[in-house]
Amino acid sequence: MTFNNLIIDKSNFIQLITISREAKLNALNRETLKEINLAIIDAIVDENVRGIIITGAGEKAFVAGADISEFSSFNSPEGKELAKEGHQNVFDLIENCPKPIIAAINGFALGGGLELAMACHIRMASANAKMGLPEVTLGLIPGYGGTQRLPNLIGKGKAMEMILSANMITAEEALTNRLVNKVLKDKPELLKAATELMQNIIQKSPNAIKAAISAINAANKPDGFNKEIEEFSNCFGTDDFKEGVNAFLEKRKPKFN
Ligand code: COA
Repeated sequence: MTFNNLIIDKSNFIQLITISREAKLNALNRETLKEINLAIIDAIVDENVRGIIITGAGEKAFVAGADISEFSSFNSPEGKELAKEGHQNVFDLIENCPKPIIAAINGFALGGGLELAMACHIRMASANAKMGLPEVTLGLIPGYGGTQRLPNLIGKGKAMEMILSANMITAEEALTNRLVNKVLKDKPELLKAATELMQNIIQKSPNAIKAAISAINAANKPDGFNKEIEEFSNCFGTDDFKEGVNAFLEKRKPKFN
């Protein structure tokens, strides 16, 4: 599969997706969103991929938002379609991906860029990263899940402040507010740390990882506990469950396929 705006690198069961429109600070135009959709679907079906890392090309930006030039003349129905399509094809697809996804935030993550990072399961940042939802300065509000995922991650009060003020926060502030899990000194260190964490995760049961993502995503939703019970019970009887339990009983490390 070849892409115009993504660089894909698959190694050691990890698919690294680099969003690559550096001259436009990796802003998400329609074609890039389509390509992210295809790359995620490809990772889901590829048996040689167990985890995904998303980053941005260069040192300056992860993603500086949706491509403003593409929607500047949209009317309300067109805006609605843009948001609905994005939710379904990219942001919800990422959040509900059965394989773990880490956002390696290597610079500006603004608007749709921060929303992309928030749809991922885990976020890490380089020290130069800056994050924000500046849509109100464009007369908009976040349209790719930002009003929902930001309060979930950092709490309502701070989310209100960020969205209403459009102020960016630094990587350190993002760490303090639990928007990111870790801050690394630069992009190479960031990618190294993200890869190490992913290598750890993908040694665990793929079935249990998938079930945990699904159950955690159900938190804060009305049927969260039922979802957890359902996913928990679905694990019983699977090959991964048998291998995991047997390995424990036999005092050895589990080996999941
Ligand atoms: N959509 C389209 N193009 C974008 C973009 C976006 N979201 N963000 C940056 N770009 C483009 C700029 O237009 C510029 O293109 P040009 O060189 O052809 O003029 C290029 O990327 C570099 O950006 P520039 O603004 O010159 O860099 P800077 O260092 O002065 O500022 C930012 C960096 C991130 C502060 C600034 O680009 C910005 O505010 N971007 C928009 C952020 C935003 O509102 N995102 C939410 C969108 S919903």
